Amino acid sequence: MAVREIIFADNPILREKSKKVKDFGEALQVLIDDMVETMHAANGAGLAAPQVGVLQQVIVIQLPDDEEDPQSGKLFTLCNPQIIGADGEEESEEGCLCLPGWVGEVKRATSVTVKAQDHRGKKVRIKAEGFLARVFQHETDHINGILYIDRVESPDKIRRIVPSEEEESEDAQTEVPL
Ligand code: NI
Repeated sequence: MAVREIIFADNPILREKSKKVKDFGEALQVLIDDMVETMHAANGAGLAAPQVGVLQQVIVIQLPDDEEDPQSGKLFTLCNPQIIGADGEEESEEGCLCLPGWVGEVKRATSVTVKAQDHRGKKVRIKAEGFLARVFQHETDHINGILYIDRVESPDKIRRIVPSEEEESEDAQTEVPL
């Protein structure tokens, strides 16, 4: 396993659409392992393959442990994710590992149903709510070349965060970058 370099928001790779995963062989398993390690090293809750410069439809997600959120802690490693159902709407802050030091208010569905394949190609369906639903929307946006800043309605809804503020935040889960 290896930590890969996360690219920055101005890199045109992040604006391209990723290809569907068709080969579930060794190279994919290495990519997934590296993405999980990279996400953990960056203290992120989610990572999409384009963020490490790979245009394949692969996402990994793991929310930090939170006693009040039963969806937290579980590791998702998914290929070819598609949001096939969405409900509700909530505007809340989110950050991205490709835009370190910034967060923005983004409207997202409060619950989603995701259709995907696991790392072996087996079909899976996941229902997610709240922050996990937000992370799924953020990561599937990445594989379609969309960044959260595209969805922020006005510049005053983006703000800079300073490291000390991150440490003191009581709402730590919603401020981990994706
Ligand atoms: Ni992101």
